[in-house]
Amino acid sequence: MSSPEPTVIRALLARQTGWVSGGDLAKKLGVTRVAVWQYIEKLRAAGFGIETRRSSGYRLVSPPPDAHAGLIEAQLKIRPRGFSLTVLDETDSTNDEAARQLAAGRVAPFAIIARRQTKARGRLGRPWHAPANGNLYISFAFRPQLAPARMTPFTLWMGLNLCELIANATALKPGLKWPNDLIFEGRKAGGILTEARVDADQIRDLVFGLGLNLNSPAAAWPADLGQRAVSLAELTGASLDFNRLTTAVIGRVLLAYQRFVDGDYAENFATLWHRYDVLRGRTVTLLEGTRRHPGTVLGVDDEGALLLKTGRGRTHRFPAGEVTLEKTPAA
Ligand code: BTN
Repeated sequence: MSSPEPTVIRALLARQTGWVSGGDLAKKLGVTRVAVWQYIEKLRAAGFGIETRRSSGYRLVSPPPDAHAGLIEAQLKIRPRGFSLTVLDETDSTNDEAARQLAAGRVAPFAIIARRQTKARGRLGRPWHAPANGNLYISFAFRPQLAPARMTPFTLWMGLNLCELIANATALKPGLKWPNDLIFEGRKAGGILTEARVDADQIRDLVFGLGLNLNSPAAAWPADLGQRAVSLAELTGASLDFNRLTTAVIGRVLLAYQRFVDGDYAENFATLWHRYDVLRGRTVTLLEGTRRHPGTVLGVDDEGALLLKTGRGRTHRFPAGEVTLEKTPAA
């Protein structure tokens, strides 16, 4: 018999905060009421707040604070064929784990969430702070089989989709700092790390990693990050439903990926970039290897390269690099 967990979770979710009768659940699952009680106990042990009343049954009062695969799967509205999700307690890096599983032949697309990572990485090999603190660490694995040149605006497109999602799901105003930083009120709440394996001129394996600061408390940041990093919970003043937001992220990423592969994104790209770009018109220094290019940001081109107007009034395009914002002079 397949696991009863999704049925129990779906029944609880369907009644929202209403009661679900133990007898009805037992009938649906073809098991005894004692067995239903055991499943409920298992969910409680996983962090679900479930109330029991003798005459009424069970009701969900609070979702688990941590990632729960069954709950995410039960809430997911879209599911591309073959999609699967794994939730781990700990791994070195979800990007590395996804790459290993792709190499071992796991059917794609899939996603891996870890509650904590011991060797999480950001761009340029920088470490990413990833203890078990209520933040989201997730990597998606795809096999796009597209020419590498087609992939250039991928990270930017995904970042824009995440901004759209957060803007719609919360009262927050996200911004995107080229190429991969999710910015709120001048501080970073998320970063993207896209990695690919190219074979015979095709992107064979693609891993899209996202670190999104959801629920970490302000006091938990190490001193060097405290000024620069922020979580969505700090910004909204309340903790977020981890599994609900993670489900929304997964749904959005899968949809955005499909639109990207179908080539159905170009029109929206410029409009969205305009909406979320935090660099446009700002004076910056772009670091390209060891070379520094000061200038004013004009935006990005269709391939996602940064357009910079330098001192001599010329426009240069930079497919890659690291941007530092120059301080706006005090008025
Ligand atoms: C950056 O801002 O430089 C990108 C940070 C990306 C961090 C995420 S957390 C999930 C995934 N696993 C990793 O090792 N890195 C990405």
